[in-house]
Amino acid sequence: MRTSAAWLLAVCGLALAVWPSLVSGNVGDRGRVVCYFSNWAIYRPGIGRYGIDDVPASMCTHLVYSFIGVSNVTWGVLVIDPENDVENNGFANFTALKGKYPGLKTQLAIGGWAEGGRKYSAMAAVPARRQSLIASIVEYMKRYGFDGFDLDWEYPGAADRGGSFSDKNHFKCFVQELREAFDAEDKGWEITMAVPLAKFRLQEGYHVPELCELVDAIHVMSYDLRGNWAGFADTHSPLYKRPHDQWAYEKLNVHDGLKLWQDMGCPAHKLVVGVPFYGRSFTLSAGNKDYKLGTYINKEAGGGKPGNYTQAKGFLAYYEICLEIQEVGGWTEKWDEAGKVPYAYKGTQWVGFENPKSVQIKMDFIKAKGYGGAMTWAIDMDDFRGVCGPKDALISVMHNNMKDYIVPDIQYSTTTTTRRSTTASRPSTQPPAAPDDNELPPAAVDCSDGDFVAHHDCSKYYRCVYGKPVEFSCYEGTVWNPQLRVCDRPSDVHRTDCSMAKHS
Ligand SMILES: *[C@@H]1O[C@H](CO)[C@@H](O)[C@H](O)[C@H]1NC(C)=O
Ligand SMILES: *[C@@H]1O[C@H](CO)[C@@H](O)[C@H](O)[C@H]1NC(C)=O
Ligand SMILES: *[C@@H]1O[C@H](CO)[C@@H](O)[C@H](O)[C@H]1NC(C)=O
Repeated sequence: MRTSAAWLLAVCGLALAVWPSLVSGNVGDRGRVVCYFSNWAIYRPGIGRYGIDDVPASMCTHLVYSFIGVSNVTWGVLVIDPENDVENNGFANFTALKGKYPGLKTQLAIGGWAEGGRKYSAMAAVPARRQSLIASIVEYMKRYGFDGFDLDWEYPGAADRGGSFSDKNHFKCFVQELREAFDAEDKGWEITMAVPLAKFRLQEGYHVPELCELVDAIHVMSYDLRGNWAGFADTHSPLYKRPHDQWAYEKLNVHDGLKLWQDMGCPAHKLVVGVPFYGRSFTLSAGNKDYKLGTYINKEAGGGKPGNYTQAKGFLAYYEICLEIQEVGGWTEKWDEAGKVPYAYKGTQWVGFENPKSVQIKMDFIKAKGYGGAMTWAIDMDDFRGVCGPKDALISVMHNNMKDYIVPDIQYSTTTTTRRSTTASRPSTQPPAAPDDNELPPAAVDCSDGDFVAHHDCSKYYRCVYGKPVEFSCYEGTVWNPQLRVCDRPSDVHRTDCSMAKHS
């Protein structure tokens, strides 16, 4: 273990005094309903104005205040709207919702698209900057009484966002150190992160098995998978691949993105599926009367016309879309058969979005796959005033489905349990079976020299809990890396002291 500490010293620049707690995850809990809240929605005009009092907090298990940033001068927390968040008590009012809704967890999110990646890359690269930001985060958590922290660096390792190659390791170090700092506070604070689902993004920036072990939940941003930037009109959160999806777009759908996270070593119960409460809109090429998925657009227009309330091109809140369709009229509504999401068009305007029916299908998907719950970006774009029908049309569907759903334990590796019960049922006349080669009796595991002990089966390891070894299995497709003390990809682990046979 001394060797691995030295290795961590070299990589993270800090000796880890204690290994952070293993986060057990969401197995046996009810499904999460994670509601992101945009602090700028308060500035939307008229019926668009959305404040903390508008949050339907009884329908969310987690509320996430978005966003704070990082200061590239102090390397501490940067409050982006001090007047609203601090002087006018935005943070304090937000966490005070717990008084009215017991069990609710309030979280603070750092980053977001507008913050970019450059500052985060510069922060994570220097151990003293990481420590400075972490100390500042802990202070904010305490001062305002948040229960969790959400990481929205978009994205580590993304060269197109100011990132660099070494972000991937630095980000893991940052999360490890944040976990340690939170554990030291011993207040049960959660760490979550909002993540992309494109394979190249994951490969560039995310040590998937390690991160999934360190955090409480992974909020998969399974939306914005198409947009004006793509150069054609399409829905942006299709559940499955459609016939017209080609090349890079073949795997850019909710189902395949979630599966990718699992294939790369994340357990299902840690994965929370994102659902957009907004549409992505397009302006079609002049004279184009072909409204099918993937049709031609006028890319220079920068998207569809801005909505009256959200006021951004290429983007419409659910309540703006339902008002257009129901009240303004003239729209044709269609269904993306394979993607299981609606779209609508009128003249040169085209929008792909979600409605109660598509959200219901996504909830069925989450339950069928055993995921940890559902997330929305963002709660302020639901029909929160009931301008088109019953209030809170979309979040109600999420709540109604998740409230009675218990996250199952989907164990990929159950060999140990199976073997034990086989042994137990052996007739007593038989001589006792010699211990299986892969199953060291716990007594033989030496816990005197550290927290982790390698196993004869590469896919397993022991963790010493109060001096007693407890056997753990790595997630499917990963093996124990004694240097990093994490489950890792077999290609990155070179061990001769254990059997890899089960994973070939
Ligand atoms: C900090 O970041 C801002 C915005 O990204 C940039 O304009 C500025 O030059 C940076 N300052 C320092 C000291 O790096
Ligand atoms: C916080 O609550 C107080 C008291 O209700 C209110 O006056 C203030 O506007 C609220 N601030 C925010 C940002 O919601
Ligand atoms: C948006 O505003 C325009 C101009 O006032 C109005 O004609 C239109 O009906 C409004 N649309 C919605 C959805 O409120």
